[in-house]
Amino acid sequence: MKGELTSGIYWVGAIDWNIRNFHGYSTHKGTTYNAYLVMGEKIALVDTVKAPFAGEMVEGINNIIAPESIDYLIINHVEMDHSGSLPLIRETLPRVKILCSPRAEEELKHHYGEEIPLSVVKTGDVLELGGKTLTFVEVPMVHWPDSMVTYVKEDKVLLPNDAFGQHMATSERFDDEVGWDIIRPELAKYYANIVMPYGAQVLKALEALKGIEIEVIGPSHGLIWRQYIPQVVATYEKWAKGETEKRCIIVYDTMWGSTEKMAGAIYRGLTEEGVPTKMYRLSNSDRSDIVKEMLEARGLLLGSPTLNNGLYPSVAEFSTYIKGLRPKGRIAAVFGSYGWGMGATKTLSGDLQAAGMEVVDDLQVKFVPLGEKIDKCEHLGRRVAQMIKAP
Ligand code: FEO
Repeated sequence: MKGELTSGIYWVGAIDWNIRNFHGYSTHKGTTYNAYLVMGEKIALVDTVKAPFAGEMVEGINNIIAPESIDYLIINHVEMDHSGSLPLIRETLPRVKILCSPRAEEELKHHYGEEIPLSVVKTGDVLELGGKTLTFVEVPMVHWPDSMVTYVKEDKVLLPNDAFGQHMATSERFDDEVGWDIIRPELAKYYANIVMPYGAQVLKALEALKGIEIEVIGPSHGLIWRQYIPQVVATYEKWAKGETEKRCIIVYDTMWGSTEKMAGAIYRGLTEEGVPTKMYRLSNSDRSDIVKEMLEARGLLLGSPTLNNGLYPSVAEFSTYIKGLRPKGRIAAVFGSYGWGMGATKTLSGDLQAAGMEVVDDLQVKFVPLGEKIDKCEHLGRRVAQMIKAP
């Protein structure tokens, strides 16, 4: 049967073909909200879907069993793309027992009201369905404090909610039906924009899962992993450790073309030194896509003209965004043109340092970069390139 992970475990999620903005993150390929039915002698629904898609989930369940047969609802994560159909479940299936982590108990009450009846499970707790044994492991901050994973022992199936997810709407359900090379960019974009601040917690979660045999990973978004499990786990570990490639990105915006000229000269310096480099003008680029590139690039050059003694608005938005994502261990430098006040690069330096980056230079040019000012920009590119290439 389509969507069958193993005997008695089924995908009953929903496909959101048309979402293009997921709380500020661009989703050019849509997404899915994955929920799973685990059927032993008793039946558990693991997670739900975003509220407008509840009907699609119920239809999927109806194709397998009568929804009234469900005994338990496991809430792995409170965020509303997964818990959103909980009110409908409570209303239509009042005998269903709802299980969640200790932190989720508090958060669910804030979302759905104090009166909601909940049973709390902690790391190591087990729910016997009869023929299917569910074990719970809390993985705080992957993605919220409440997050936990559910493991089905008999089938070696891990249901880790947001971890290992990708925002991709597809008619296929499994990784081998689509291919690693197609899924990996979406896995990277998801990690960079959602999971990156929590690298330390990801490493802890991976450690907690070591020693557990896993044959299928059913995340809460995108394709289900069954062929590329070693690759996806190793890739998550690499990203969580902040390991990068010897590459660079130049991100900037410009008013009268001066900061853009600086970016071009910096680019020449970097590429003359043999460092693969990509450039993005923020007015024409999508910040979620840039952050995906930043995930694996060792160097970041960020440029802004000074406007009213501060940052150009598009650069301010980007800088605020990456300050929250905390991409540690990168080599960064800032640059920009100014007329009479010099506020932009100072603010940028502060933001990048707050994000955990080492800011190695702050290059400013008065009005238009000409002559030796251009040489200085090229020199900055070469200098950063050498730092990127250093072993
Ligand atoms: Fe897919 Fe943190 O929700």
